[in-house]
Amino acid sequence: MSQTIKRIGVLTGGGDCPGLNAVIRAVTKTAIFDHGWEVMGIRDGYLGLIEDRVSTLNANNVSGILTTGGTILGTSNKANPEKYATGIDAEGNTIWSDVTDTCLATIERHGLDAIVAIGGDGTMSGAQPFIRAGVNVIGVPKTIDNDIVGTDLSFGFQTAADIATESLDRIHTTAESHQRVMVVEVMGRNAGWIALHSGVASGSDVILIPEIPYDLEKVAAYTEHRRSIGRDYTVVCISEGAAPKGGQQAVQRLDPTSPDPVKLGGIARQLAHNLQALTGQESRATVLGHVQRGGSPTPADRVLATRFGHEAATILEEGKRNRMVAYVGGDVTDIDITVPAHKQRTIPADNHLLQAARAVGTCFGDG
Ligand code: F6P
Repeated sequence: MSQTIKRIGVLTGGGDCPGLNAVIRAVTKTAIFDHGWEVMGIRDGYLGLIEDRVSTLNANNVSGILTTGGTILGTSNKANPEKYATGIDAEGNTIWSDVTDTCLATIERHGLDAIVAIGGDGTMSGAQPFIRAGVNVIGVPKTIDNDIVGTDLSFGFQTAADIATESLDRIHTTAESHQRVMVVEVMGRNAGWIALHSGVASGSDVILIPEIPYDLEKVAAYTEHRRSIGRDYTVVCISEGAAPKGGQQAVQRLDPTSPDPVKLGGIARQLAHNLQALTGQESRATVLGHVQRGGSPTPADRVLATRFGHEAATILEEGKRNRMVAYVGGDVTDIDITVPAHKQRTIPADNHLLQAARAVGTCFGDG
């Protein structure tokens, strides 16, 4: 039992995803009802600590938000306390500052005994200076990309994969009607989890992921083989981070004010163009984009988010320090919060689903 906690702060950092509100609700209600703590909501991730935007969360504030998308606290994927953009110099370069002390002063001013940081690898990395300064930070892993090291699942992923699957199902029928190659680009950064899961679930003919550089000629040959056996359309599910063998990832834009400046995007258009040039078959590109991050979480994500939020408050009560809630081997548990910092969990070559997809004839553009 921890005797020291009276008040905690909760924040959501990084890109949003479905289920953030469900976690906020579960942490807040567990903290208030089970432990009698006060809960403060920190606005816009670490930005709320930098700019002192902190206010009380009570049970009423978090009522009715289980099923809603986005985050009632707002979020930011630019506010890294150790590397925060504070201006532009005469040469047009971003000026970076370490604003850790400003954040620590905010934590002190509001009497926060611990912070629950709901976010991805960037948010876990952003917590490191606070941990070094003695603040207890409990992480809750979120991201549609499912690429956080140390947890088999992050909430948001299952919803994004469902949305992508439904979109691919819709693309399938129009691909067949028009005998086209339809290339659908899904999110995921440098990990192909969304592409692999939605590609398999929708029966996509080709799945291209960042972990397996693809051979354009092999993909083209596969579409032609399908045509030769009377399957005159092809659905390609491609991850935004996929790249051709010996080629580069497609970069949509660079955001110099972000600690994660590379914004991926555009590979579907490139692939559709190249496939049409090689095969002569009409090829179109669809980019699903932020649709995958918006809207209501699926029941599975509502459940996972509720378990994660409850667990975050529970391990704080147990006196644990600097842990990240995790889902490992079918159970909710916790790991050292430093484990996922600055890393990404990608798909290993022996992944069971990858093997299953290969076994049913899915083309990965290699081999
Ligand atoms: O990490 C979640 C994610 O949606 C990635 O899949 C995608 O590459 C990135 O965020 C997009 O970031 P932004 O919303 O800043 O464009």
